[in-house]
Amino acid sequence: MVHPGKQAAAMAALDHVQNDSLLGVGTGSTVNVFIDALAAAGTRIKGAVASSVATAERLTSHGIDVLDLNLAGQLELYIDGADESDPQLRLIKGGGGALTREKIIASASREFICIVDQSKQVEVLGEFPLPVEVIPMARSFVAREIVRLGADPEYREGAATDNGNIILDCHGFSITDPVALEAAINAIPGVVTNGLFAARGADLLLVGHDNGDVTTHQAAGAD
Ligand code: 5RP
Repeated sequence: MVHPGKQAAAMAALDHVQNDSLLGVGTGSTVNVFIDALAAAGTRIKGAVASSVATAERLTSHGIDVLDLNLAGQLELYIDGADESDPQLRLIKGGGGALTREKIIASASREFICIVDQSKQVEVLGEFPLPVEVIPMARSFVAREIVRLGADPEYREGAATDNGNIILDCHGFSITDPVALEAAINAIPGVVTNGLFAARGADLLLVGHDNGDVTTHQAAGAD
């Protein structure tokens, strides 16, 4: 059975999708509900840019065209889930390992709508271990650097990313300044990217509640 909060948030996102638009589509169980609902609603989009192989396969199975981002150009809208969101709509993502492609597409989109169930809202990011995608040969070096930054990295066994890299799940970061931490981790040689979406957070957060209600949260400065 689909989690009612995920279902509610995914359905609410449908109202933001225009016919004939090009859409960026994220990864995860909430996004899967959204993809299925988009197909069932009969909304005719021009096509989608997918943040993972799994999402591309699901879109294709519904007859939705999947485009290469290099050919799509700037996207109007990106829809994706998250593992945590703070009140400023800064996020932790990457629980599903698709963080790098997700960050690329979010950055290439004019608007990022994040869809979550209520359990993902937190006051301060960091309870969820922060995923970091790393070039395989740099694994031990990056792990040591992450310890120096104050966290405890854990190798995600058997989880190669779609880009052929590995994931370190970093426990215990005190994330008082997400923008600074995002930049500091990304500056370690061998890091592809990390799951903090703080420099480019969500513009709109749709939170699905257990009773089926949806609350809408807009980032300061977003139009
Ligand atoms: C994948 C992600 C997902 O958006 C995140 O893990 C949330 O997943 P779900 O919708 O299954 O709770 O960042 O890399």
